[in-house]
Amino acid sequence: MCGIMGYIGGQQAWDIVLSGLKRLEYRGYDSAGVVTLSERKLRLARQVGHISALEKAQPEPLAGSIGIGHTRWATHGGVSVKNCHPHRDSSERVAIVHNGIIDNMEALRAQLCAEGVTFRSETDSEILAELVGRGLARGLALLEAVREAMRQIEGTAGIVAIDRDDPELLVAARIGSPVVIGLGDDECWVASDPLALRPFTDRMVILDDGEIAAIFAGSFRTVDLDQRDRDKRVEKILHQPEEAERGDYEHFMLKEIHEQPRAIDRSMRGRLDVSMGSSILGGLKSHEQQLFDVKNVVFFGCGTSLYSAQVGAYLMSRYARVPCVAEDAAELAVRNPIVERSTLYVAISQSGETADTLSALREIRQRGGLVAGITNVVGSSLARETAFGTYVHAGPEISVCSTKAFTAQVLATELLSLRFARMRDLSASEGRAWALALQELPDKLKLMLEQAGACEELARRFAGHRFTMFVGRGANVPVAAEGALKLKEIAYVPAEGMSGAAMKHGPLALIEPGMPVWALVPPDETRERMIGNLRELKARGAFIMAVADLGDKEVRELVDRVIPMPSHHAAVSPILNAVPLQLFAYYSARHLGYDIDKPRNLAKSVTVM
Ligand code: M6R
Repeated sequence: MCGIMGYIGGQQAWDIVLSGLKRLEYRGYDSAGVVTLSERKLRLARQVGHISALEKAQPEPLAGSIGIGHTRWATHGGVSVKNCHPHRDSSERVAIVHNGIIDNMEALRAQLCAEGVTFRSETDSEILAELVGRGLARGLALLEAVREAMRQIEGTAGIVAIDRDDPELLVAARIGSPVVIGLGDDECWVASDPLALRPFTDRMVILDDGEIAAIFAGSFRTVDLDQRDRDKRVEKILHQPEEAERGDYEHFMLKEIHEQPRAIDRSMRGRLDVSMGSSILGGLKSHEQQLFDVKNVVFFGCGTSLYSAQVGAYLMSRYARVPCVAEDAAELAVRNPIVERSTLYVAISQSGETADTLSALREIRQRGGLVAGITNVVGSSLARETAFGTYVHAGPEISVCSTKAFTAQVLATELLSLRFARMRDLSASEGRAWALALQELPDKLKLMLEQAGACEELARRFAGHRFTMFVGRGANVPVAAEGALKLKEIAYVPAEGMSGAAMKHGPLALIEPGMPVWALVPPDETRERMIGNLRELKARGAFIMAVADLGDKEVRELVDRVIPMPSHHAAVSPILNAVPLQLFAYYSARHLGYDIDKPRNLAKSVTVM
């Protein structure tokens, strides 16, 4: 949450910082600000609203070839200009941008107030600026002042600082919140996400926790909190800059929905062994023996990633016969988990930066558990802190509302479950059938996308309805929950997703004539039971939209609309079923005129707990 960006070099910093912030806007978008430095003056522009509002408020570029900027998702202090970053210390010598939360804010603030400081904002970040300013006033260099300040705080901080009296230096630091430095020949950039840097450079350095970097035009130096020098590896960023552009699509969400065939194809490339009926996950190779001995699997994540974990848990238990559960990472982290050596824990997170997921994985590791990771973001904290794992390679996901990451994460759990199943008692021919089904997914997803028009028509009809229900069985229960989450998140429609079986234990009371209900009815072992649930819904007058086999006459007669799905192996239906629900949510939000890629009150990476 919150995007930070900095630049030092020979070009105008204002344009570069703004362009980086625009690419980071998905991390927070309730206000934005920039500071540049020229002629020994910090030049500041801040505004409530999106970055476009900042540009409007400050149409002339701020002068200077060094600058920092921030796009905010409010935590401490309301959405107001005074709370916008960058924040300055009381002597106005230093300015900082900060992503994170200072847990000991009250104590530090009280101490500084007692020493006579008057704060201008309600934020925790201004405290950090003040601590750095005090260090400078005592004669410390900026690197040292930031290091001292970081030692005093508890919580999380990714920061970039600029000193009015040193126009040739930016200082960045990381505790908990990501910071990436981009390297050029005579210039450097710094940001909270490699995405922001990609148009400028493909050479980057990812700071580890407790590292502080002095960044000059074209070089950098890193130390740790104890002032020891740290050698850093320069990494290559793989994705193309245009992957993070909207192209001809009206919204990133629509683009990302339509990218799914390609994303799934890329995700699978080189990872299927159809002839052996198995999968090859490179990241797992070094741990094959350990995986063979695993007795239980626990997938965990938050939000959409939790739903992909739940699909994975179903597949792992059903096909690999390995007892498996999915856990909400936020709860797992705080409930004193029982960690067993024979269990494999798998953290799932698109961003790899979700605080609750990282906290759970750290707690499990702390107790000696083996933690693997499934993530989309190369070099993310999750990727760095897990023993092994797999990237889903879905490409950058910009829309706050996750779509292609969901299907790619489910795919990763399919590949893992297939491998586990083949290490245990799934026969070669059963494995081959599953592997083939995975291989055919990109084409089948294209067929699902052809239903966009039908989904749009249904969305137009029900967009403003006061409640929408989603039901499924088996592996599709979490898909129903995911469909409801999409609709709540971007169209602000109250919705629930659940097992068709759970309805009669309460939620059926919500059904009244004409109420929209999405039902996932693939032609597999769950079909018979779903038919029973459809009858219960029909008897109460629900308007049922079913994702089902077009040839299924019984379903056709029971429901009001069928979104047809191609024939498929039962294990892959969650990936196909997700698509119409994503499209329905998208077109509902579009019809209602909402800001689809930036839904209210949310941000893409939830880096606070
Ligand atoms: O980056 P992560 O996958 O860890 O994010 C977890 C959730 O915050 C995320 O999936 C959220 O629920 C989505 N915005 C839903 O569309």
